[in-house]
Amino acid sequence: WLAQVEWLAEVDSTNRFLANDPLSGRTLPALVGANAQTAGRGRGSNSWWSASGSLTFSIVFDPGQFSIPTSFLPRMSLSTGMAVRNAVARWLPESLVQVKWPNDVYVQGRKIAGLLIESHPANPNLLIVGIGLNVNNSLQSAPQQLQEKATSIIDVSGSEASRMDVLIQLLQDLEFEWKRIATASDFLDEYRNHCYLSGRNILVNDGVDEIGGLCEGVDAEGALLVRLPVGVQRVFAGTIEVIGE
Ligand code: BTN
Repeated sequence: WLAQVEWLAEVDSTNRFLANDPLSGRTLPALVGANAQTAGRGRGSNSWWSASGSLTFSIVFDPGQFSIPTSFLPRMSLSTGMAVRNAVARWLPESLVQVKWPNDVYVQGRKIAGLLIESHPANPNLLIVGIGLNVNNSLQSAPQQLQEKATSIIDVSGSEASRMDVLIQLLQDLEFEWKRIATASDFLDEYRNHCYLSGRNILVNDGVDEIGGLCEGVDAEGALLVRLPVGVQRVFAGTIEVIGE
């Protein structure tokens, strides 16, 4: 389903590469991947550790190509996270692979993949979806502060996975999820089945306020539900920290 694929030996960030590209001459959806990123970006002001052996790429596309109406774009994060989760679950014990709302993938309480979804600065109708997945980059060689927070396919399974096989599976799962965004009624049930935060005590930071409470899963619109003393709060955006079971 991709019209163009470009693979670079090294780039600062595949998201930035596509954002700086006026896209002239590119046919969409287009993928740009890199063996190494020298300045991989995470959400907010975070960076993304892009060691050799990891899978890092971005796809630029028009959501209309998948018949995704604008009203469903908030679902894009959850849906893309589920696709990555489902792909990773083919290499690891299925029940260990979970989605951490809104769109990270976690294994045994550690982050294995992250997504950075942005609109294209030169054409806000286009989305740039960046995916970073730790495949053969063992956390043993990661900066100290990541070692307890993150993991990789090789660290969990004990064996290397072909990055090409993982990429191909991931592209199939992305196509499946994106095509059904506007129609699938069972999507949120599936998401709930793999929701890492459900039943855990969490802190939600939306950049202005911080609230803490028990996570009660996601509602029909994909908002995160947090039980506070005053009632259940619906959360639409923010970073989430787990503070207890
Ligand atoms: C996050 O977890 O905060 C998001 C991480 C996103 C990382 C990917 S790697 C490919 C693409 N290029 C980037 O610079 N970032 C994304």
